[in-house]
Amino acid sequence: MLNIFKKAQKNKYAIGAFNASNLEQLKGIIQAAQKTPSPIIISTSPGESKFVGKKQIRALIDAYKEETGLPLFLHLDHGKDLEIIKEAVEAGYDSIHFDGSELPFEENIKKTKEIAEFCRQNKVKNIEGELGYLRGKSEIHEEVEVKEEDLTKPEQAEEFIKGTGITSLAIAIGNIHGIVKGGNPHLNLDRLREIQEKVGDKAFLVLHGSSGTPEEDIKEAIKMGIVKINVNTDLRVAYTQALRQALQNNPEETAPYKIMPPVIEAVQKVVEERIQLFGSNN
Ligand code: G3H
Ligand code: ZN
Repeated sequence: MLNIFKKAQKNKYAIGAFNASNLEQLKGIIQAAQKTPSPIIISTSPGESKFVGKKQIRALIDAYKEETGLPLFLHLDHGKDLEIIKEAVEAGYDSIHFDGSELPFEENIKKTKEIAEFCRQNKVKNIEGELGYLRGKSEIHEEVEVKEEDLTKPEQAEEFIKGTGITSLAIAIGNIHGIVKGGNPHLNLDRLREIQEKVGDKAFLVLHGSSGTPEEDIKEAIKMGIVKINVNTDLRVAYTQALRQALQNNPEETAPYKIMPPVIEAVQKVVEERIQLFGSNN
C-alpha cells in the first residue's frame, strides 16, 4: 500500500478510498476498479463496519482480489478508540485510521502514538492520523461554515508525525464531510502548500470529505501532494437515488437480484468518474 502511495505521489495522482457497507456498494466499486483499471481502497467507518461485519468484508475483498488480481485494500475509516481498532486489526484490515482530531493536540499525539505502535506490532502497514477539525457528516447539508481555527497548522503537522510514527496524515484544509446544497467550500490550497513544505516525505497526505468539493481544487490538491482521497456521500446519494427509482419503476418486483443491478451501476459510475478525476486509472 505504501509503495502504491509512493508511486502515486511521484506521478501526481491519488488513490480513492471508497466507503461501503454492503455487497451492492462493494460490487459497484470493484467493477469500476476493474473497468478503469485502478488500485483502490475500500473503507468502512465504525457504523459501516458493524453493519457489514469486519470479517465478512475482509472475506469478500479477498474473494474479489483473487478474482480480479487488482490491488484492493481494506481500511478502517475514522476509528475513534482502541477497541474498534483491535477488532479491525484482528479481522485483517490492511490499513487503519485513528481519528483523534477532537482531542487536544498533546492527547491526540499520545493516543495516536499508542495506536500506531499497536498497529505496527500487528503488521499493519498504513496508519493514518488526523489533525485539524473536519466539520459535517457524510450527508446532504443546508450549510457548513469552515473556520480558520479548524485548519491543520503546518508546524503541528510536522510535530504530530514525528511524535506519533504515523505513515499518513488526514488534514483539514477547508474540506468538510458531506455535500452542501449550494456548493461545498473551496479548499485552502495555500494551507496545503504550507503543510506539504513542512511534512515533505515524512508522511502521505490524505484528503477526507471529497464529495461536493470543487473538482479543480481536487486536481490542484493532487498536484500538490495529496495521495489518498476519501469518498462517501457521493456513493450514498447515487445508491439511494437509484434504489428509490428502481423500486418505483418495478413496484411488483420481489427479487433483489432483479432490483439491484441499476443501483450497482449507479455506484460504479460515480467511482469510475472519481478514479478518472484522481488519475489512478491504468
Ligand atoms: O472518511 C470518509 C470521507 O471523508 C468521506 O467524505 O462523505 O464528503 O465524501 P464525503
Ligand atoms: Zn472522513
